[in-house]
Amino acid sequence: MLDEKYYKTRRTIRRYKPQTPDAQLIDKMLELASHAPTTGNMQLYSVIVTTEKELLDKLAILHFKQPASLAPMLVTFCADFNRTTRWAELSDANPGFGNFQSFIAAMLDATILAQEFVNIAEHEGLGCCYLGTTTYNAPDIASVLGLPSLVVPVVTIAVGYPDEEWHTSDRLPLESFRYKETYTPLTDDQLLACYRHREELPENQQFVADNNKTTLAQVFTDIRYPRNNNEQFSTIFKDFLIKNGFSL
Ligand SMILES: Cc1cc2nc3c(=O)[nH]c(=O)nc-3n(C[C@H](O)[C@H](O)[C@H](O)COP(=O)(O)O)c2cc1C
Repeated sequence: MLDEKYYKTRRTIRRYKPQTPDAQLIDKMLELASHAPTTGNMQLYSVIVTTEKELLDKLAILHFKQPASLAPMLVTFCADFNRTTRWAELSDANPGFGNFQSFIAAMLDATILAQEFVNIAEHEGLGCCYLGTTTYNAPDIASVLGLPSLVVPVVTIAVGYPDEEWHTSDRLPLESFRYKETYTPLTDDQLLACYRHREELPENQQFVADNNKTTLAQVFTDIRYPRNNNEQFSTIFKDFLIKNGFSL
């Protein structure tokens, strides 16, 4: 039987008690998470666990001081082809990993590891929050964390003991994203129906009003993920990848 209640009640936590999670517990969780699938079993990732106040403060600024970035622990998951490349060079092998395909493989490995870690941490009662801002400020985060070439921060997980009310967020219905055999685009009416419940939630209507918008979609396009930000951070990240050894 699927444990529906467990999966449906998990949620992102953005405010934490001051207590730093035990380092050995986190190590154990990371070790367990490393049993997740990985490209060719190469484990194309590295993980930086940060708990020192001075470093946390620097990272929080680079994550725009959003609430979760003030966590007692930030765990930065990096795409890492440095170790594998060095292993090859030290072993009479000729590595060819400084390219976009290899970066994507390492990014997937790092992300899968991060989600496996989140699964384990949440199961054990810790609160977690992804910080997507990692790729926004990748060059400065890499500098704070001392990352060498072919190591790129991909995602950060804020970790701590929950200190906020429990509230799960909605999800779009299955019909909005599951197709059978081949992709059959939704009609406009079907598509809008998929978003109706979300648009009618009081908190989302408030969100629209607070931002002086007329639709929820406008909040996403104009406020949360505006075009100029997306384009600006794309350029910064692309330049950083190239500078760090991945040709595009
Ligand atoms: C790749 C990724 C990046 C995210 N970045 C942020 C972030 O920067 N700040 C934040 O508060 N939440 C972030 N989140 C958390 C999402 O906002 C959250 O998962 C979503 O709203 C659904 O809520 P739930 O996890 O409680 O179900 C991110 C999640 C993912 C998967």
